[in-house]
Amino acid sequence: MTEKERFSRERDRLNQMVMKYANKETKRFFSLDHQIYEKGALDEKTKEFAGLVASLVLRCDDCIFYHLIRCQETGASSEEIMEILNIGLMVGGSIVIPHLRRAVARWDELQISSTPFEIQLQQAREIAASDSSVSEATQEICLYLRQHNPIFDWVGFYWINPKNPRELILGAYAGEPTEHVTIPVGKGICGQAAERKETFVIQDVRLEDNYLSCNPAVLSEIVIPIFKEGVIFGELDIDSHTESPFTMRHREFLEEIAKIVETRL
Ligand code: SME
Repeated sequence: MTEKERFSRERDRLNQMVMKYANKETKRFFSLDHQIYEKGALDEKTKEFAGLVASLVLRCDDCIFYHLIRCQETGASSEEIMEILNIGLMVGGSIVIPHLRRAVARWDELQISSTPFEIQLQQAREIAASDSSVSEATQEICLYLRQHNPIFDWVGFYWINPKNPRELILGAYAGEPTEHVTIPVGKGICGQAAERKETFVIQDVRLEDNYLSCNPAVLSEIVIPIFKEGVIFGELDIDSHTESPFTMRHREFLEEIAKIVETRL
């Protein structure tokens, strides 16, 4: 069991214990706590950042870990987390340094603990089988994959332009916007994967000649072609800010995700 799972289970257990004895006021307070962090004028991630700073300044390790988990689930990057922790450090001063150390260590642990692939595949199958449109389903898959795999910093789909089979067009994605909304077949890693109709696993993009950079923080990329009736139809593209992060298991997992998407085309 990961530290995150242990923490979440214990938190649930204790919450149930509180609810066993809670009176109306206790229940109201707990429910308010939940509502405060729901999306409003501010998005969920911004609210989690605020919760994280407050928790660091007040030096509550449990609260810090909880908000770190939520920050990860709402798509925070390591760069963002360090900037937010710095605000807490500035406000709280050197007395918060021990908590900041533990926060960074826990964030680091969260980076390697992703949801098991089997559970993710099951979720992707459910999304693909839902009544939503292809663009809604692919959007949901992008968000889900990015949230559940800490090394996936950008997840998106490119589709062959129906009016020009030599061009890819960006579809749904999760992560920073990219300038590469269209890519000629043959150009960059995406274009080469579409041309060769095979998976490209690039563990270090700095060693590539034919590569289109979206963001200097990206160090690696994996692209999986998607077919419809045997003909190339598009691809799943994933960028990572980590060098050499992709294992054979990632490749197999993502090829399976591509097959699930194919069932919806
Ligand atoms: N790096 C890609 C371009 C697309 S972005 O990664 C989103 C490539 O070389 O094809």
